[in-house]
Amino acid sequence: VKRTPLIAGNWKMNFDHLQAIAFVQKLAWSLKDAQHNYGEVEVAVFPPFTDLRSVQTLLAADKLAVALGAQDVSPHAAGAYTGDISAAMLSKLDVRYIIVGHSERRGGHGESDETVGLKARAAVTAGMVPVICVGETAEDLEAHGAAAIPVQQLQAALSQLPAEAEFVVAYEPVWAIGSGDPATPAQAEEVGKALRDVLRAERGDAVADATRILYGGSVASQNVASYLKQPNLDGALVGGASLKVDEFSRIAQFT
Ligand code: G3H
Repeated sequence: VKRTPLIAGNWKMNFDHLQAIAFVQKLAWSLKDAQHNYGEVEVAVFPPFTDLRSVQTLLAADKLAVALGAQDVSPHAAGAYTGDISAAMLSKLDVRYIIVGHSERRGGHGESDETVGLKARAAVTAGMVPVICVGETAEDLEAHGAAAIPVQQLQAALSQLPAEAEFVVAYEPVWAIGSGDPATPAQAEEVGKALRDVLRAERGDAVADATRILYGGSVASQNVASYLKQPNLDGALVGGASLKVDEFSRIAQFT
């Protein structure tokens, strides 16, 4: 089954809107130059909310082949939620992907599986594609092995999603994020396979075969190809290395 690989750059809390414009311009030039080298790959950037409007304008004006993503979304449609951003607001900015359930939000902001599922649903309802992040901590790994927690997190999120929803799954072992200590390709594939089995059991063959499962956690240009070679991994969610134009461009040309 062929799935278009997705290389996603999660900037986290980095780059103001001026830095964002400069970065995306350079990235687009670099990808254009390299176009003969990389085949069918989808590249997406996930800037902070305050950068989205500027990046949207740039992408539209120059017709750049980079998709726009957001790092979070409110589970609510509108109303008295100070500081929150709704899915409808993001959709108006041509956002296509929304990260939900990143471990920095599950851990740092106490987001439950239920909240993550509701956020994913809010994204789908507004016509966007949630990137549902799952992953085990070092303690989980010790206690339950690698796959148990990610499987449970994915099942919980799916229970909130309509049957026809399009979504992406990102497997990010928490111990591998920003640590310089990535999961081995075999470890990541093992969990990728377990996650695809969940998709098959819960949503059937068509969804299981079409849904992209990304690996994230200390991805760099030197190791990205080893993940993409795995049958159940279809891309990467890149943090630190997505902040360096040349490095991120090399990652996007992993083939
Ligand atoms: O969303 C991205 C991940 O948290 C990975 O971050 O590439 O800096 O390890 P990292």
